[in-house]
Amino acid sequence: AQDKRESLYVLSQWAGKFFKQHLWETDSGRSIALSYFKERGYRDDIIKKFDLGYSPDQWTALVDAAKKDGFQESYLSDIGLAIERDDKSLYDRFRGRVIFPIHNLTGRIIGFGGRTLKTEKSTPKYVNSPESEIYHKSDVLYGLNHAKKAVMDADLCYLVEGYADVIAMHQAGVENVVSSSGTSLTTGQIKLISRFTKNVVILYDGDAAGIKASLRGTDMLLEEGLNVKVLLFPDGNDPDSYIKQVGSAAFIAYIAAHQEDFIFYKTHILLKDAKDDPIKRAEVIRDVVESIALIPDEIKVSVFIRQCSSLLDIEERVLLTELNKIRINKAKAQ
Ligand code: UTP
Ligand code: MN
Ligand code: MN
Ligand code: MN
Ligand code: MN
Repeated sequence: AQDKRESLYVLSQWAGKFFKQHLWETDSGRSIALSYFKERGYRDDIIKKFDLGYSPDQWTALVDAAKKDGFQESYLSDIGLAIERDDKSLYDRFRGRVIFPIHNLTGRIIGFGGRTLKTEKSTPKYVNSPESEIYHKSDVLYGLNHAKKAVMDADLCYLVEGYADVIAMHQAGVENVVSSSGTSLTTGQIKLISRFTKNVVILYDGDAAGIKASLRGTDMLLEEGLNVKVLLFPDGNDPDSYIKQVGSAAFIAYIAAHQEDFIFYKTHILLKDAKDDPIKRAEVIRDVVESIALIPDEIKVSVFIRQCSSLLDIEERVLLTELNKIRINKAKAQ
């Protein structure tokens, strides 16, 4: 079994090289894919640092090359580089896409994300490697192999939604950044971050999905004992698009100035909807106290209760009663 895993790593590494060669050394790669990365503003050194590639727009380019190089066919489908037809023949999962290899902590390639170059909505924007013996999605953070030192140095980790956000922030000089890439944040991913820092800043996309994911992510991070700040970008931007819009220096200034402690962030977001409706305001208060109740550290809990009290203009005593109610209900549910 150990031998097989090793073979799967070797095959992934080989595929990474295959995609890279097609990006840099073929006419179609250069004219279609490299120019795409350039258009997005990515520098050569960054494209190389992240091992970006291109999968040719053919049905069996990778399958054929892998067979020719002596790889066992079943391994290709085991790690999802190939998909099996009814007649058992194989075809490439990634076709005509720019490729973002996914690395584990030690820098070995374990999977791939492939972005379409088409603009029509009918094709999925990203195709990703499936779970496999070497790729357990819930325990992987995109970019962590490059970020871990910077995360430890800064004692802070930025958490973003996408591959492109990690890469654009690196290029802007902010290297302590990782992405959960499509999967909603998991406890395994949070435990991974907390090996390097207890401080997380969520920088999700400034759209409805990003807001929703930021609230859920906040609660999960709090529950694991991490300190959480949040910042969403204006007008539906994500870190990548915002950097492109305002430039690296203004981006760095913006994130320094606008990140909010989770309690301010959550309160502001929810109050926007509640306006002056007293019933909705009461619901907001309960919702914020529910997040506070997740925090394992009692001292932090009391600090946040105090902040919440002044923020929402509610007596601390009332909030503490609510906190205890939530805790009792949780204890009953267990
Ligand atoms: P987004 O839709 O925000 O994409 O999804 P993006 O990262 O900004 O992509 P660009 O800038 O248009 O290239 C965030 C992340 O969710 C995953 C990918 O990991 C993506 O980076 N995703 C998104 C998928 O896995 N599949 C999809 O079809 C879309
Ligand atoms: Mn798994
Ligand atoms: Mn998004
Ligand atoms: Mn995005
Ligand atoms: Mn984007």
